[in-house]
Amino acid sequence: MQRLPHVLLLTFLFLTVPLAAQAPHAPLLANVSSRKTKSLNGAWHIIVDPLESGLGSKFYRNRKPKDKSDLVEYDFDASETLNVPGDWNTQKEKLLFYEGPIWYERTFSYSEHEHARVFAHFGAVNYRARVYLNGEPIGEHEGGFTPFDFEVTKSLHDGENFIVVEASNQRREDAVPGLNTDWWNYGGITSDVEMIETPETFIRDYWVQLAKGSRDQIDGWVQLDGDFRPQQLVSIEIPEAGIKISAISDGDGRAAFHVSAKLQLWSPGNPKLYEVRISSGNDAVRDLIGFRTIETRGSQILLNGEPIFLRGISLHEEAPVRGGRANSLEDAQTLLGWAKELGCNFVRLTHYPHSEAEVRLADRMGLLVWSEIPVYWDIAWKNPATLANAESQLRDMITRDHNRAAVIFWSISNETPVKPDRLLFLRTLADDARHLDPTRLITSAMNGAEDDGADRHILKDPLGEFLDVLGLNQYYGWYSGRPEDADRQIWTSPYDKPLIVSEFGGGAAYGRHGDPATRWTEEYQANLYVHQLNMVNKIPHLAGLAPWVLMDFRSPRRPLPGVQDYFNRKGLLSNRGERKQAFFVLQKAYREMEARETPHP
Ligand code: GCU
Repeated sequence: MQRLPHVLLLTFLFLTVPLAAQAPHAPLLANVSSRKTKSLNGAWHIIVDPLESGLGSKFYRNRKPKDKSDLVEYDFDASETLNVPGDWNTQKEKLLFYEGPIWYERTFSYSEHEHARVFAHFGAVNYRARVYLNGEPIGEHEGGFTPFDFEVTKSLHDGENFIVVEASNQRREDAVPGLNTDWWNYGGITSDVEMIETPETFIRDYWVQLAKGSRDQIDGWVQLDGDFRPQQLVSIEIPEAGIKISAISDGDGRAAFHVSAKLQLWSPGNPKLYEVRISSGNDAVRDLIGFRTIETRGSQILLNGEPIFLRGISLHEEAPVRGGRANSLEDAQTLLGWAKELGCNFVRLTHYPHSEAEVRLADRMGLLVWSEIPVYWDIAWKNPATLANAESQLRDMITRDHNRAAVIFWSISNETPVKPDRLLFLRTLADDARHLDPTRLITSAMNGAEDDGADRHILKDPLGEFLDVLGLNQYYGWYSGRPEDADRQIWTSPYDKPLIVSEFGGGAAYGRHGDPATRWTEEYQANLYVHQLNMVNKIPHLAGLAPWVLMDFRSPRRPLPGVQDYFNRKGLLSNRGERKQAFFVLQKAYREMEARETPHP
């Protein structure tokens, strides 16, 4: 059967099923930055629409009055603008707390090319997007932190076009995340928008990684999209490794390959990336890919067969200094540069997939990555649509970053309550992740430790059975106990698996000083870090740390005037990039750890 072009298929689905139940969007295009694209970044006209009246009024038609008596109650051209990419909350004071729909519109010109297909690519829209081109619906996407593509080949006009996006960060109980988050719900088109042109048959995705458990065998596949019959020849080259092989695509357009390779393995100390060239028919893509192995042995994490201790830090994707959702390479360079300055070899990117640019930067900088979907606190565990949404976000996170050596953990949740429906939900996600990527480790940040006698705590969460690596969030000295009491606390786990303390910390307002017993002072936070580090370093099975948190970040849950002002102040740096005393406590500890690991000449 002739494959229907995506746009036709999507239009058909769009017209026949309610939006919410719409089939998943077209599969992601890999490595967009390597393709010929037309950027749609810049100023877009907007209409703030708290009652979503724009749906009924069909704002997406971008109509003008046809004569002087015609009634049209909107006009994008006369409306204010927002910059794309960028959350709306930090672009206009009146939108700081806004949670609801906003309509975006811009025009652009496009000149059609023979035998080409065109896709509209969005790096991320928080939280839900409805996309229209030249007045016609082309697709909808839910999930605020992962990319999506819609084929627009048939909807584009040669010449002038207009695109309309309804973005909404409306919280919903059945969404992922749900109603309650300790981070700001930055809404809007928060990442790049591009038109991507491809040949009629093109390379949509590929997997080029070491085979599980091997350090010299590459297992891979290339997925074609389009009319790929009869079989198509695919070429894979890694010139610096002397590799040039070809493979034949099967009836589904997938070309599998396996090749021996003598490679410099990627590691934090040597983040070696190879240029990989893939071509087929009249399409070709290039990528920079590192090769390494990651596995566990008892309580150890092994990178390239060697035990490694993860000196990490947790961080939100918050833009340093200016605030809002980080959305540029410069933002990522500042954040990951601070992690490096701390002495980190590991970053926990919380609580949602961070930008592809940030993950690719970690590849280049030699920072190992914990990547996480926003299954956060309480979720509608019983709702099949919620599970399908979480699975879709997990699939898109893995599809986007499955060739990034830096990524070693897929995290399926953070601090979810221990109850039966939740366990079934998360077990499904863990199975999905292993099916999509058998090479990386599955983890989750859990805070279900139970008291096990005086000053004793045990991580008894049944979720641990389905994880490769256990994450433990605990706030001894902040939410319970005094920092000094941390020294006596004993933490154990019933699982013979690596354990990472994925959060500990306390708040301090930069520049606020007093004695170490006075909360919110830098001295209190620094003292807490001293005692927490004493405590966690005694935990058996400890394989890493990711203290909470690199930099202060906005949160609607943190109103304390003059101290928080709607910022979570557990950062080691203020949101203006000022280093607090605790920054240097952790930095000293990591430098001492690294010195102990470094073999003496
Ligand atoms: C939790 C949660 C974080 C939150 C932190 C805090 O552990 O995982 O998202 O910001 O605690 O209370 O500051």
